[in-house]
Amino acid sequence: MLTILISGGTGLVGRHLSVKLKEKGYRVAVLSRTSNKDIDIPAFAWDIEKNQIDREAIETADCIIHLAGAAIAEKRWTAKRKQLIIDSRVKSGQLIFDKVKENKNKLKVFISASAIGYYGAISTDKIFVETDPPANDFIGETCKLWERSADRFEGLGIRTVKIRTGIVLSKQGGALEKMVATVKMGIGSPLGSGKQYMPWIHIDDLCGIYIKALEDSQMKGVYNAVAPDHKTNMEYVKILARKLKKPLWLPNVPSIAIKIIFGSMSEIILKGSRVSSEKIKASGYKFLFPDLESALTDLVEKK
Ligand SMILES: NC(=O)c1ccc[n+]([C@@H]2O[C@H](COP(=O)([O-])OP(=O)(O)OC[C@H]3O[C@@H](n4cnc5c(N)ncnc54)[C@H](OP(=O)(O)O)[C@@H]3O)[C@@H](O)[C@H]2O)c1
Repeated sequence: MLTILISGGTGLVGRHLSVKLKEKGYRVAVLSRTSNKDIDIPAFAWDIEKNQIDREAIETADCIIHLAGAAIAEKRWTAKRKQLIIDSRVKSGQLIFDKVKENKNKLKVFISASAIGYYGAISTDKIFVETDPPANDFIGETCKLWERSADRFEGLGIRTVKIRTGIVLSKQGGALEKMVATVKMGIGSPLGSGKQYMPWIHIDDLCGIYIKALEDSQMKGVYNAVAPDHKTNMEYVKILARKLKKPLWLPNVPSIAIKIIFGSMSEIILKGSRVSSEKIKASGYKFLFPDLESALTDLVEKK
């Protein structure tokens, strides 16, 4: 039985993924800033600033999934917050790398989260593919550094996979929970022009892709984790309102209001690129929820 160590495994994706991995018979442990070893999924402590990881976590890991990172869209992007967003992904990845290198046990695979923000928030008809260059903005730069720190594992002969993730739709939190709340209150309007694309993925599919990346030795390099169905913010809000049986009567939220509230972070709210799922499909992954209708039926309509 393999042991999978998940950094940031206490978060939205990590919690769901841990359950799925346990169901498949894997042993799971997480790396967390708060240690708690006396539970079903033990949390080993690490401290990125002090360059410390509980040795046992690395010594017992067969595979590592690196999800840790300060939330990107939670707070305004001050200079300090931006540095934390980068360091919590890049310095943390470097720390894991240093400890894996020191350790004698050979890791089978290192899988890192990344984000579709790699391509930038650009509203055009172009559909971005994995070989496209990174955007010249804060999130593009963050993703570039994040993925580069993952690439170092290849130098140790460890298979490395990077999962460029779209907006994760889940019942347990994240973007969908916030959108459901606003639509239910009758204030869930399209944002700005509403024409920006919102590449999304059902959390079950994202976990399915992580598990495939773990088990399929042919998977290497970067894969976009987005559903094949391209939807704009306007389409998304309309489908959601219909599923919740709520009217959409307010006008779009003006771009200027979003810019005032969110500052430079408004870029990722008001603009959005289309991102391709062709490579992950070609790898053999079959989406459980390929279209937004079926995903929202599962997440919003089903109890
Ligand atoms: N959810 C999405 O829509 C989405 C979309 C694209 C990409 N992603 C990426 O996928 C990964 C997982 O997403 P998620 O939604 O599960 O994230 P999440 O719920 O915010 O959880 C991330 C975890 O990272 C750890 N963390 C937070 N701040 C940290 C810091 N300053 N230093 C070290 N660790 C820190 C936390 O674990 P502890 O508190 O236990 O330390 C937290 O549970 C993230 O890297 C995220 O950027 C997510």
